Amino acid sequence: MSVTVALGLQWGDEGKAKIVDFLAKKFDYVARFQGGANAGHTVIVNNKKFVFHQVPSGILYPNKKVVIGNGVVLDPEILLEELKNLEQEGVKSSNLMISHLAHIVMPYHKILDQASESKSKNKKIGTTGKGIGPAYTDKVSRLGIRMEDLLSKDILAEKVKANLKIKNFLLKKYYGLSGLKAEKLVEQYTKIGKILKPFITDISVELNQALKKNKSILAEGAQGSLLDIDFGTYPYVTSSNTISGNCSTGLGISPFAIKDVVGIMKAYLTRVGEGPFPSELFNKDGKKMAEKGNEFGATTGRPRRCGWVDMPALEYTTRLNGVTKLAVMKVDVLDEFKIVAAVDKYKNIASFSEIVNKKVKMELKKFPGWMSSSEQITKFTDIPKRQLALLKYFSNKLHTPIDILSFGPDRKNTLFNLAKYFK
Ligand code: IMP
Repeated sequence: MSVTVALGLQWGDEGKAKIVDFLAKKFDYVARFQGGANAGHTVIVNNKKFVFHQVPSGILYPNKKVVIGNGVVLDPEILLEELKNLEQEGVKSSNLMISHLAHIVMPYHKILDQASESKSKNKKIGTTGKGIGPAYTDKVSRLGIRMEDLLSKDILAEKVKANLKIKNFLLKKYYGLSGLKAEKLVEQYTKIGKILKPFITDISVELNQALKKNKSILAEGAQGSLLDIDFGTYPYVTSSNTISGNCSTGLGISPFAIKDVVGIMKAYLTRVGEGPFPSELFNKDGKKMAEKGNEFGATTGRPRRCGWVDMPALEYTTRLNGVTKLAVMKVDVLDEFKIVAAVDKYKNIASFSEIVNKKVKMELKKFPGWMSSSEQITKFTDIPKRQLALLKYFSNKLHTPIDILSFGPDRKNTLFNLAKYFK
């Protein structure tokens, strides 16, 4: 069997959790390969709302194995909190596996992330403040603390002390904050290591053996492709590669194992945090999208910026990821728009990646709105003609069939297996 990657094609918050939750049913494993507690996914099951930041959403299925890959930066404090909440709801976590190579987000990473944001008044990134950038910085600087280090107090103590020499200098001398005490951190994280020990394993071995036994793996992306550290709107990006190529390094599997890439997009566009957003709407249309789409961050509660869907951006991320199928989300948010628009092309740049350094000129394509509730759609033939024209435009522009359509948070507001209609 093989690996399917499901990931967002925009700046995140495309509605991945709902799709991953549905797709997960058909898979033996659900794995996360990058990011950390900066992700926020909300899943509604039996009218109960679960918000996860660190645990892959597949945890809700008792017969699935759920994997946190080596490419993730893991915040054990948040993970333990989520596992505790799940246990209170009667959800068992014995199917969870954590890579022994995953890097740990330490308390100083979170303090440094927040301190750096408040100090850089003019060049704010608008991070989630979860310590993601500083944790990946340490990974690349070869200073990081990994999951396996929590299992040896001596190794952990040595690494924490080495880190605090630098971190405390920065905290005290540069940011004017208090430093941290090594002994306290070592005690706390040795304890955490003991609790998490049963979950820690070599997930690359596990997943490769699973593939040999014909098992199927769903790899879920966190953040969106436009937040990718290389290809996103740098420096207004997250600190990991969010595109499908990183699934291989983030899980320790061959790139040849990836057979399908489900690209998830909203019918409009949002962004949290700073950075360019050419089609951002500052008028009542933008407000209407935010209200109808409930566009507030699951991790930080921040209001999301809203605008028209950007086709050059989607052409770029469809290509980067090798998307084989599209899932178009939240189409219902556009139900009451007399005119629906999309950025059709940019006039003065050749590649979307140039938008950071250039003031772009864009051409909008306008569609008459369908002005009816998508609530009633239960099959393909129910889709209003005007809505279908927009969807066909998406599919044709991206040379990729739409396989999934979503009209609301509930399972009943979703159509599957539509690819045959968009060939
Ligand atoms: P960081 O990942 O916390 O370092 O934040 C870097 C940028 O990525 C900021 O603009 C965040 O708002 C954005 N970001 C990080 N995670 C998510 C997410 O799950 N959804 C949307 N934006 C995100």
